[in-house]
Amino acid sequence: MLIARELTKRYGPRTAVEELSVTVAPGRVTGFLGPNGAGKSTTMRMFVGLTRPTSGAALVNGRPYEDLAWPAREVGALLDVAAAHPGRTARAHLRAKAHVCGLPRNRVDEVLAEVGLSEVADRRSGSYSLGMRQRLGVADALLADPGVLLFDEPVNGLDLDGVRWMRDLTRRLADEGRTVLVSSHLMSEMGQVADHLVVVGRGRLIADAPISEVISAWSRTHVVLRSPDAGRLRARLAREGVRIETGTGGDSAGEELRVFGPGVEEVGDRAYEEGVRVHGLRLEQASLEQAYLELTGESVEYGARTAPVTAVRTGADGAGRTAEEVES
Ligand SMILES: Nc1ncnc2c1ncn2[C@@H]1O[C@H](COP(=O)(O)OP(=O)(O)O)[C@@H](O)[C@H]1O
Ligand SMILES: [Mg+2]
Repeated sequence: MLIARELTKRYGPRTAVEELSVTVAPGRVTGFLGPNGAGKSTTMRMFVGLTRPTSGAALVNGRPYEDLAWPAREVGALLDVAAAHPGRTARAHLRAKAHVCGLPRNRVDEVLAEVGLSEVADRRSGSYSLGMRQRLGVADALLADPGVLLFDEPVNGLDLDGVRWMRDLTRRLADEGRTVLVSSHLMSEMGQVADHLVVVGRGRLIADAPISEVISAWSRTHVVLRSPDAGRLRARLAREGVRIETGTGGDSAGEELRVFGPGVEEVGDRAYEEGVRVHGLRLEQASLEQAYLELTGESVEYGARTAPVTAVRTGADGAGRTAEEVES
């Protein structure tokens, strides 16, 4: 179990992590999602005592890292791919750590096999590809068989097989009852691995909810309509209080409207009632990726064109609060 309690890290005037409160539960894969610079790595580093919080607490199994009796047996982390000395072999690197942790030597062979590095274990890690170094980092994290695992952007540099392997590994570790926190800056990737999502933007918590809830809260549909007489229909829908945006697709074929709320049939019927010619009518879904970028403040352009999306937050307080409420 990992608990962040009003966790804050400032670097001079810059706040990397701001009052982050979140509980990462065992038995499931928790995705830690946020754009580059959102504070994911800083948060993970605070959990393993590599970065000191400015205020608040980062607890592993209820204690700060430095109070853990056998830290490597409680928490393993893949944070920095370059963590192993390039002049050392993978086997030598893991043996040194096994020695420090008081683990039997055959444990090294076990984890090497587990991450698929047995064949190349006696090569210097400096000659490894990025993907192989990632695997070595995973072997290092797993070595002392900890119940809590932190993987920071683990699929960076992995090929398709590697990505699939990482996905299966995180699933298995969670199924074994471990606490598994996996970060990524890509929403698309999280959909494949995570059961639960913690989303951060600019150091702050944006959402903390099961992935299915995040998906349903972030998925919005609207009707896109193209018409040479769009003005009349727009006036009619506006009278009914329907939110409409004028799209970018206006040309000789007419204006494009984005209609939020009513479905395709309803919009088509209104057009018919008004005697408005329609040259295109379709349902459009904002992608999760778009919603995510908008929420995390990555894409100012998209954010300016549409209203903010409601984010769910069913965290420790259990209350479903919106993004704006979390913001204030
Ligand atoms: N050692 C550091 N010194 C100064 N600023 C830092 C340091 N580490 C991270 N930051 C800043 O903190 C913010 C969060 O960084 P980071 O935790 O690496 O984000 P993420 O992992 O989500 O990409 C960024 O603005 C980054 O520039
Ligand atoms: Mg990072």
